[in-house]
Amino acid sequence: MKINIKHFTLVSVVALSTSMTACATDLTKAYDMPNASKLIKKDLLKSPKKYTMPKSCKLDSLEAIARGEYIFHNLNGKKAKANPPKGLTKFVTKKGKKKPKQFGNCVACHNIEGAKGAGNIGPDLSKYKKLFIDTKARDAKFVYQKIADPRVDNPKTHMTVNLTTGLFNKSEICDLTAYIISDKSKKK
Ligand code: HEC
Repeated sequence: MKINIKHFTLVSVVALSTSMTACATDLTKAYDMPNASKLIKKDLLKSPKKYTMPKSCKLDSLEAIARGEYIFHNLNGKKAKANPPKGLTKFVTKKGKKKPKQFGNCVACHNIEGAKGAGNIGPDLSKYKKLFIDTKARDAKFVYQKIADPRVDNPKTHMTVNLTTGLFNKSEICDLTAYIISDKSKKK
């Protein structure tokens, strides 16, 4: 029995060293060698794209504003936990439960009325209507383009690109635009 084990060990040591030598001589056959340049190219963002706000955008619609509010806040706070508004289209199944997909996360970078745990990487969007729309410093088209592809206005932006990447669809960007430019002064 003992002799057998010794013999077996000796055989495996010889086999192992032979295979190690094989690896050392030809690594390309032992490992996957993906084309890194090709992979990087695939992950690069497409170039900045200009968009026209669709005529179908219902900027005054309370339902659109409610959806925009939900998407904007859906990282944190009460507004993110409330029942999803009518017409919200993206859901995921988590532990067998249907839940609204978290994909806006605008509060991660922006403050706005009623925001919980808002980030300050992006400008504060509170009182946006009064400060930017009523004064004509900005308009709905600007806001739509900014959310769709912020790089058109600011090539060095740190904001997420949403439409060119397919993260959002046009009607979700209409909803967010409607929410940002809506009058929130009457709400708590
Ligand atoms: C990673 C951080 C980040 C996220 C996430 C983000 N933003 Fe921004 N946002 C910025 C920064 C930075 C700016 C300022 C630079 C610029 O204008 O591109 C900005 C600018 C804006 C502006 C322009 C304000 C103005 O009048 O100049 C709007 C509107 C806006 N964001 C809306 C949104 C919405 C809606 C979302 C969610 C879909 C969002 N942002 C998500 C960082 C972010």
